Amino acid sequence: MDYSIETLALDKLETDCIIVGLYDNQQLSPSAEIIDANHQELISKIIARGDISGENSKTLLINYLPDSTIRRVLLVGLGEKSKLTTKLYRKALAAAISTLKTAKIESITCTLADITIKNTTTVWKTRQIVEIFNDAFYQFNETKSIKGSDSSLKNIRITATTATESEAKLGLQQGLSIAKGIDLTKFLADLPGNICTPSYLAEKAKNVASNSDKMSVEILEESDMEALGMGSFLSVSRGSRQPAKLIVLNYAGGKPESKPIVIIGKGLTFDAGGISLKPGAGMDEMKYDMCGGASVLGTLQAAAAMDLNINIIGIVPSSENMPDGDANKPGDVVTSMSGLTIEILNTDAEGRLILCDALTYAKKFNPEVVIDLATLTGACIVALGRVPSGLLGNDDALCNDLIAASETAGDSLWRLPLWEEYHEQLKSNFADLANIGGRDAGTITAACFLSRFAEDFRWAHLDIAGTAWRSGGSNKGATGRPVPLLSQYLIDRADA
Ligand code: BES
Ligand code: MN
Ligand code: ZN
Repeated sequence: MDYSIETLALDKLETDCIIVGLYDNQQLSPSAEIIDANHQELISKIIARGDISGENSKTLLINYLPDSTIRRVLLVGLGEKSKLTTKLYRKALAAAISTLKTAKIESITCTLADITIKNTTTVWKTRQIVEIFNDAFYQFNETKSIKGSDSSLKNIRITATTATESEAKLGLQQGLSIAKGIDLTKFLADLPGNICTPSYLAEKAKNVASNSDKMSVEILEESDMEALGMGSFLSVSRGSRQPAKLIVLNYAGGKPESKPIVIIGKGLTFDAGGISLKPGAGMDEMKYDMCGGASVLGTLQAAAAMDLNINIIGIVPSSENMPDGDANKPGDVVTSMSGLTIEILNTDAEGRLILCDALTYAKKFNPEVVIDLATLTGACIVALGRVPSGLLGNDDALCNDLIAASETAGDSLWRLPLWEEYHEQLKSNFADLANIGGRDAGTITAACFLSRFAEDFRWAHLDIAGTAWRSGGSNKGATGRPVPLLSQYLIDRADA
């Protein structure tokens, strides 16, 4: 798909379909008014029949415009003008592209960056159009011999005026960078565990790095981790035939002396639970237990494509968690890189065992902040559902920056407390701490565990168990979250 900015006047346009907006009182968007005036009030007349109300996300395709180089018009309901939020705007965009996705057309011109929404810019609106449209065209065909049918669409143009053109172009560049990062994240996540192994992720990280002259990559092997004393991480991998990898991406876009933002992603390419084996139903979805890691790759790729002037380190501890004669057993005690010993009461709480050593490793980069992303707890889905990712951290300013970015990006977060009281649940009679804290507050106790390894820096943890993929059914698939949120957070830091 080719995306571009269109500055031609609407009466000079040639396109298979133009997308325009309609409010719920039948009021036309600015571009819709112009098209209407240029075509003998055809749009007004059709609306007057009552076929479309303007309710948000309802669409009507006008399939023919007499004597016009604009061959179709898609009317998209925006709802009540004064109540148009960023969320409703995104929803309307998704409805528009879903209507057109299967149409036999080659070109679309979207005018919806002309809509006024409180606290938004042309950059943001153009970016949303690209991200949301691109999302609609994602297909996973890698492991199918019968591929899904391709859309006939070849190009999408987004209109701008001479006044908004430069903003629109920036929005387009950001949108394409982020959309490609999301695509990479989804692709890696949707791959099955027998293809997407830790070694495969490491190769992909090398690819990402090789596409930017500001990025380098280092892959630490099990022997390197052994030398560093990563006994906790390595204990998880011991039950697997696939060697663990610690992937370290270094994006040097900022001044050499400026401290990096470190992003760590859980890269469990398959989580069977280990000796504390998971039940069979739905276990296939534990191929998605590397979504945090995939998001690190997608986000760094996006940051490099946007040429952000900041330094970023991406760390992906990657392993499988399998039952095996040599696997961790409940009751085993391991020693982490930090020196803290851990009693493994449940081998299925493996994410924190690999992340804790990655957190300790992050210290060597003298980080500005450390953010980890992990499909860490089923409890997070119980607490928050599949709408926001869970957010926990030891620094209010960092958490607030992430929440602000999540709102802008439409990739929501909800903060949970990380209070001292919860640490009680991690006490062990046989080690410095236990790896589980019982049934209550599972997302919080998991974060409490991680926080013991994040005491020397500003740190936030995103539990993406409910948001990284859509579960079950025909809709099963990766979402690419939280790449939009992290990309926004990094854009904000680059601007600051
Ligand atoms: N990867 C899982 C968490 C998970 C489960 C994410 C289901 C999304 C859907 C993690 O490694 C895990 O197994 N966590 C356990 C922790 C428990 C043993 C304390 C869980 O959530 O059951
Ligand atoms: Mn597990
Ligand atoms: Zn897991």
